[in-house]
Amino acid sequence: MANVTFSSPLLHQNVTVYSVAGDTHTILAVADANKIPIPHDCKDGECGSCLIEVESLTGKTMGSLLTEKEKIQLKSLGKLTAEDIRRAEIQDLTPKYRLACQYVVRDDDILVKFSGEPGGAN
Ligand code: FES
Repeated sequence: MANVTFSSPLLHQNVTVYSVAGDTHTILAVADANKIPIPHDCKDGECGSCLIEVESLTGKTMGSLLTEKEKIQLKSLGKLTAEDIRRAEIQDLTPKYRLACQYVVRDDDILVKFSGEPGGAN
């Protein structure tokens, strides 16, 4: 079980929902199921509109691996460098910026920030 807390200017207050560890739901699927309005379009890592900022609330450093589509989109949005990718892959550290439609919830309590503007994290 993991707590996922959403924070955005679009929300009156932070919203925390529970996600079952081990399922394969993305942050976007969890948000949709709980009527959290993360902007999105393609749901397939192609448009970059679902940009989020992710922070571990437990101090765990592991996160879901970057997908190839995330690497391309986040680099084109200027949110990820080649060094960030290298560090993520070698140390299993999740970068701060992710795509909600690609990030799979793991067994960690996280804070997810989004601006409400497509492609804007916060
Ligand atoms: S919805 Fe298009 S990249 Fe996530």
